[in-house]
Amino acid sequence: MQQPAIWPFVPGSEPVYVARAEGAYLYLTDGRKILDAAGGCIVSNIGHGVVEVADAVRDALVNCTFIMPPWLTPEREALVNELRAHWLPPHLTRIHLASGGSEANEAAIKMAIQYHAGLGAPQRTVILTRSISYHGTTITTAAASGHPERKKGLEGILATYPQIQTPYPLRCPVGTDDALATQYYLDDLEQTIETIGADNIAALIAEPLNGSSGGAIAPPAGYWDGVQLILKQHGILLIMDEVMTGFGRTGLKFGSDHYGIKPDLLVAGKGLAGGYAPIAGVFGTDAVAEAIAAGGFSVMFHTFGALPQACAAATSVLQILRRDDLIERAKTRGNQLKAALIERLSQHPRVAEIRGTGLLIAVEVVADRETLTPFDQSLRVTDQIIGHGMSQGVFFYPGGTGEIRDIICMGPAFIIDDDDIQLTVDALSYALDALVDLENPAT
Ligand SMILES: Cc1ncc(COP(=O)(O)O)c(C=O)c1O
Repeated sequence: MQQPAIWPFVPGSEPVYVARAEGAYLYLTDGRKILDAAGGCIVSNIGHGVVEVADAVRDALVNCTFIMPPWLTPEREALVNELRAHWLPPHLTRIHLASGGSEANEAAIKMAIQYHAGLGAPQRTVILTRSISYHGTTITTAAASGHPERKKGLEGILATYPQIQTPYPLRCPVGTDDALATQYYLDDLEQTIETIGADNIAALIAEPLNGSSGGAIAPPAGYWDGVQLILKQHGILLIMDEVMTGFGRTGLKFGSDHYGIKPDLLVAGKGLAGGYAPIAGVFGTDAVAEAIAAGGFSVMFHTFGALPQACAAATSVLQILRRDDLIERAKTRGNQLKAALIERLSQHPRVAEIRGTGLLIAVEVVADRETLTPFDQSLRVTDQIIGHGMSQGVFFYPGGTGEIRDIICMGPAFIIDDDDIQLTVDALSYALDALVDLENPAT
């Protein structure tokens, strides 16, 4: 098929043309059947084409098409009830709905700043960010992201936010001991707060464990307990970006649940409606909402935030996740996939680490596994692996950014079975074997 001149906006490689999708598989116009081991971009959780969800969306569209975002409709009420009754931690009582993760993170950042302004500290505007992270594509969320690739060409406009180091046990400068590593990263946080002055800081924005920017990097034990203690001492809010990790992806409802994290604001998107509709949420405490109200401020909506049909899709997806026990399945299938990858590939000469939690899994690929030296960027190793994977009928998600590169992410739908896991491992093994003779260019 000839690439239409109008698509994509920036000319480049020819787009994959998906004719239809079903379950965890994509069917391309050229006849190929591809296992979507990435769930799109780690979105699809119940799989493609579930008619029950489509019916719920249709019913919502027939009931009402567009209603002002702050007003209530039966679809909005049903989603709020579903979230409150079955999903949100009890301390997160307030719900703001947006149409994507970037919008929702931007709203959470604004809320954190308004919270302090409402309490009489309008100078608390600094947002602490982390060195390896992704929070979105708006000017503010891109600026807050530790993701050099996605900032290119925008450097002149993006604000500079103070960055603390994202814990990265594999490459931690003080080694792999949990206690030492945790102390190292907590010292970094404390020093940063001291330099800026706690009275100027509104919040820290962070993912509980990294999404694709670092590839499922989990922090060392004790890290989050320590961070929460320090933030509390200084009156700094914690914004948990669970756009990728939320709603069961990591085998628990939220990534925060693995670490006893109690955020002031939790942001989730992708898995909320599993790709059936654009919807994301900011979930906050009474304290945040009350301070914003006390200041006489409001939280502006986006026109397409909380669309009734998107709410209906989300409610239906969340109910299916519960009814079919799919979060437990994300945990068991995730363990199975990770174990199979470790058995087959952990000693592979190009593999530095296989890591992940639930069905958010990543393989870090290097030129030299002893020194952890990456392949030169010019070799575009991640692209090569994705290409080889596609040739074997599997789509992997490219992760990493800048210095942290060649990270192959997996985040398939929770419905994958034994055969899908075998196919994933076989395809990645094939793709990595193709790199065995690849040499880094002489420097
Ligand atoms: C952790 C995280 N935050 C925010 C975003 C941005 O969400 P969206 O692309 O829906 O705007 C993403 C998207 O990949 C993400 O992974």
